[in-house]
Amino acid sequence: MSFDRLWADLAPVGRDDDSGGYHRYTWADADTEARAWFTDAATARGLDVRADRNGNLWAWWGTPGPGAVATGSHLDSVPDGGAFDGPLGVAAALAAVDELRGRGVTPVRPLAVTVFAEEEGGRFGVPCLGSRLSAGEISPERARGLTDASGVTWGRAMEAAGHDPLALGADPGALADLDVFVELHVEQGRALEDTAHPVGVASAIWPHGRWRMDFTGRADHAGTTRLEDRNDPMLPFAHAILAARSLAERHDARATVARALVSPNGTNAIPSLVSAWLDARAADSGTLDAVVAGVREAAADAARDHGVGYAMTGESLTPLVGFAHGLRDRLAAVVGTRAPDPRVPVLPTGAGHDAGVLAAHVPTAMLYVRNPTGVSHSPREHARPDDCHAGVLALADVLQDLLAR
Ligand code: GLV
Ligand code: MN
Ligand code: MN
Ligand code: MN
Repeated sequence: MSFDRLWADLAPVGRDDDSGGYHRYTWADADTEARAWFTDAATARGLDVRADRNGNLWAWWGTPGPGAVATGSHLDSVPDGGAFDGPLGVAAALAAVDELRGRGVTPVRPLAVTVFAEEEGGRFGVPCLGSRLSAGEISPERARGLTDASGVTWGRAMEAAGHDPLALGADPGALADLDVFVELHVEQGRALEDTAHPVGVASAIWPHGRWRMDFTGRADHAGTTRLEDRNDPMLPFAHAILAARSLAERHDARATVARALVSPNGTNAIPSLVSAWLDARAADSGTLDAVVAGVREAAADAARDHGVGYAMTGESLTPLVGFAHGLRDRLAAVVGTRAPDPRVPVLPTGAGHDAGVLAAHVPTAMLYVRNPTGVSHSPREHARPDDCHAGVLALADVLQDLLAR
C-alpha cells in the first residue's frame, strides 16, 4: 500500500534518534521539511497544493468550490512527541486518494487533503491555531503577537517561512465550501486495544483549555535568607500543582502542569518568578470550570500566605464538541462493513483536534486508529502497520461514500 512509502519518507523528518521522539515546531526547519514532504507527495499525485491565509495547506483533487469533502490533520508535534499524532491522518489521507484512484473513483465534488498549522500549540502556546484562525476564533492581532520560548512572534516566524502575516484572518468562504471534514487520528488511549477493532469513530471531545499562572516573588540568597524573610514563588506553585491533582481526582477530570519557567533558575537563588501552565479537561464545562476555579483559589490562597503575587490568565478554551450523530453513525456503518464486527466502537476523547474547532462550522467526524500502547505525546505512541492500513481503507470507504452523496 502506498501508505508505507509515504510513511517511510516522512519518518526521519524532525526525529531525535536518541529518544525516537519528534520535534516538529511550526515554521521551524523540521516543520518546513514536513510541509515540503506533503507538497511533493500531493503534487506527485496531481493534487493542486495551496497555502491559505493562515498557513494551512490544502491539496485539491478537483477544482476548489462548494460541496467539497476535506480530510487531513497536522504535521507539527509536541516536544519529543510520537510519530503518529497528526502525521497519520495526513499520510492516510494521501494514501486514501491513491486507494480511491485505484478503485476508479472520479469525484463528482472536490476533495481536499489538509494540513493545519500549529495544532499542538507546541511552539506558540495556543493549540489548533491554524484552524482557530480560519474559523475566526482567535483574532489575527493576537495570533500575530503570540511568542515562542525565544520571544519570536508567530507573525515573524510565519513571514520567515514565506507567508504574509498581514493576510491572517477568518476564512468563512473556505469553510462554507466544505460539506464535510473528516480527521483520521491515532487513538490517544487504549480503548480500541481491548477490542477486535483496528478503527473506531469519535463521539465527542471533552471541553479543555490552557491557563497561565504567574507567581511573582523576590530573588534572594538560598543560604543566608531566613525562611520567614522569603517571598518564594516556588511554594505556592507547589500548592497549585497538588491542588490541581486533588481537584481532578475529586471531579473525575484531568489537570496537568507540565510546563514551567523559573527565573532566574539558579540553584542557589530563591526565584523571583515562576510561570507555569495548567492544562485542564473534563467531560462537561461545569466540571471544567469547577476544577479551574479550585486551582485558581488554592493558588491565590497559597500565594497570599507566602507574600507572593499571583495572576492566572486563560490562553485557550475549546468547548465541548459533540460530533453530529447522523454523520458519526454513517461513518460507523461504513467502517463496520470491513470491521471484524459491525458494531464499531464510538468513543469520546480528552484530546483536542482541529476537527473539534471545525465542528462548530462544518459537519465534522473523526476516525481513530488503534494504539497498542495507549500512549501519546511521547515516543512510545504507536500504531501497528496493519492497523494503519485498515485506517487507510476505512478512510477511503468513508470518503467514497461521502463523495457519492
Ligand atoms: C493535543 O493533542 C491536545 O489534546 O493537547
Ligand atoms: Mn497531540
Ligand atoms: Mn493530533
Ligand atoms: Mn491534538
